[in-house]
Amino acid sequence: MEIIIQPNPQAATDIATRLIARLLKEKPDAVLGLATGSTPLRLYRSLIAMQLDWRRVRTFNLDEYLGLAPDHPQSYHHFMWENLFRHINILPENVQIPDGLAADVPGFCADYEARIRAAGGIDLQVLGIGSDGHIGFNEPTSSLASRTRIKTLTQRTREDNARFFACAEEVPTHVITMGIGTIMEARTNLLLAFGEHKAQAVAGAVEGAVSAMNPASALQFHRDTRLMLDEAAAGGLQRAEYYRWVYANKPKWQQV
Ligand code: GLP
Repeated sequence: MEIIIQPNPQAATDIATRLIARLLKEKPDAVLGLATGSTPLRLYRSLIAMQLDWRRVRTFNLDEYLGLAPDHPQSYHHFMWENLFRHINILPENVQIPDGLAADVPGFCADYEARIRAAGGIDLQVLGIGSDGHIGFNEPTSSLASRTRIKTLTQRTREDNARFFACAEEVPTHVITMGIGTIMEARTNLLLAFGEHKAQAVAGAVEGAVSAMNPASALQFHRDTRLMLDEAAAGGLQRAEYYRWVYANKPKWQQV
């Protein structure tokens, strides 16, 4: 894991933006895995401002609420179109987001996995992290080998996400999410985390034992995972000084 600690969320986002911009220049038909939530909003704004060429880029989103239609204001479909896709020149047929209204959920999930494989796999997956360590919607105790499937949200996640809904009861109870096994196959994972409320989950993911109780800790087994943190999210890390030193002293050829 590479741990990059920056003074504020924008500085951490700028590094993630540069990495994605470089990938799209080197590989114009790259396959990106995308995330929702408040954390990647700055990233999407920065990418829009760069006016990159998205015509050949393919995207797969991590997750979607079951029961919400694509045009529901709280659906992740709506989130992605509002906050990124409608501002760039991506082709709608190259955008894949789990279908919250899928009639045959297991069939849909198997097909989603097949579509990721057919696209050649995910080059770079953007991740946030839940306050309980979830990635995508893989809640604690998710199998570390899981694939795209239905999951039941914990009460904590429903409460965390209630701010986007009129009340906590309106937050759906079930979702479709890529599995941890799916995320582990992305060639690069970029996990962004900002704010003190993420510090415990981040510390567990980076310095704790690998455990399904902190799903992000599975990334310790991933070959190319980079965490972009602000100071507050890095607040629980015991080896923060070492990570800072490593980043400040990277050989020139490794710098982004
Ligand atoms: C949701 C999403 C996750 C996201 C998490 C954190 O549960 N499914 O992908 O990482 O929220 O959200 P936020 O970035 O708003 O803190």
